[in-house]
Amino acid sequence: MINKNFTSDAKNVVDALANYLHESKNGSHKVIDQPTIFDIVNDLDIEPLLESGGLTGDKLKNFVNQYLKTTTKMHHNRYMAHQVSVPHPTGSLGSFIDGLTNNAMAIYEMGPGATAIEIHMINWMLKKIGWIPTPLPGAPKKPQLKSYGGGVMTNGGSLANLTAMVAARSAMFPYFWRDGNTGDVVVLVPEQSHYSLRRTIGILGLGEKNCVSIPADEDGRVIPNKLPKLIKKLKKNGKQIMAIVGNACGTAAGLYDPLDEIGAICKEHKIWFHVDAAHGAGAIVCDEYRYLVNGIENADSVVWDAHKMFRTPVLSAAVLVKDYRHLDNAFTQEASYLIHDKEQPGTDQMMRAVECTKSGLGLKMFMSIAAMGEKGLINYISSRTKLAIEAAKYIEVQNDIECPVKPETCILCFRIGKNDQRQLEIRKKLLKDGNFYISTTDYKNARWLRCVIINPDTTIDDIKELIYEIRKINAELGT
Ligand SMILES: Cc1ncc(COP(=O)(O)O)c(C=O)c1O
Repeated sequence: MINKNFTSDAKNVVDALANYLHESKNGSHKVIDQPTIFDIVNDLDIEPLLESGGLTGDKLKNFVNQYLKTTTKMHHNRYMAHQVSVPHPTGSLGSFIDGLTNNAMAIYEMGPGATAIEIHMINWMLKKIGWIPTPLPGAPKKPQLKSYGGGVMTNGGSLANLTAMVAARSAMFPYFWRDGNTGDVVVLVPEQSHYSLRRTIGILGLGEKNCVSIPADEDGRVIPNKLPKLIKKLKKNGKQIMAIVGNACGTAAGLYDPLDEIGAICKEHKIWFHVDAAHGAGAIVCDEYRYLVNGIENADSVVWDAHKMFRTPVLSAAVLVKDYRHLDNAFTQEASYLIHDKEQPGTDQMMRAVECTKSGLGLKMFMSIAAMGEKGLINYISSRTKLAIEAAKYIEVQNDIECPVKPETCILCFRIGKNDQRQLEIRKKLLKDGNFYISTTDYKNARWLRCVIINPDTTIDDIKELIYEIRKINAELGT
């Protein structure tokens, strides 16, 4: 039955969200406040609402207003904690439209518009990398291409890394799918990689011990000229190398590996080259920072998260391959109820993905970027990196605070004093007070405070006030 109150309910929800956005942005609320789960469940009347039903009108309005109080305020300019976007409000409308239309496009017929937009966004990313886009089914002129790029959008970068490694495995060892792993396969991963890569090796049954760390310099960047010796040693020990991973950029401090040099070594040794650009894909689209990803076009696969630096609501990520056949052949299972010969004007995305049913991830990405325009997007990405660099310069001249490295993206690490435990205590107090929300990380064998300057409204004054607050807390904690 159609909810006859839909229009007025939707209007109430939008009004509440608009007010929320306004209040979050002008700092009327704490950026973070964490009551217990018990209190939240009680305050929201979850159990009585489930029992009584009829979540509409004032009941809905009250619930939404209460719910909004329990949220972490991502739109607050002092949200600087994690690599999760501050979504563009227009992109959030994409989530809303997707939720109602529910065009779960495992197969084309389940969501022609959602599939078309996903494929268009994949082509947009392929072109930015420097690869050939997928010819669009139904286009009046069919280009005669032997090979071109391909991709699929996934629910997050972790799943995208997993998908890329499945594609690498099927390309390098096609018989593994049926026969299973042989136990002698290794993947070379930078120390500073996101944990999802090591987890992927475990999930694929390759054995975590077969995830080999690549030698790195003191900042954690891969040293490419150490790779040939490592490859030789591994081969001598009877290992087969499935893939080498480059970070663009690493998770902790946001540094980019020298992709062009790693790629050349992969090419020479015929090893799959995977680039994890989940966080750092912004450099692919910004001419100013493109040098950081030089050589990315020589990768076999790239992971790109739109829900990090592209102002897209979670989740919206992509795995992209230089040769579409590698993704099309990655999964060789059958699902006869979905996959059968059929004439259709589009293509089925489920052939390329871990997921079967999937939401309109491309729609959210498209609406977020289309709201800003490419120029607006580039200005945003560039301004966040510049602010991190400016903040590091400000810290450089303070004698009680230090940065471990000059930022290359919007990630800024620093610490006050040398005591690891003290950094954790400071963050704990900051979060308890709720006026700033930052994270911490392990890096260079020490604990650092960490800001991800992802909010478009954060300024240098916010960072200066954060440092003022940190000094105050440090003094209160004593020596
Ligand atoms: C470099 C890198 N890769 C992958 C991921 C995982 O992405 P997701 O959280 O979308 O699964 C992250 C998350 O921060 C990351 O920084």
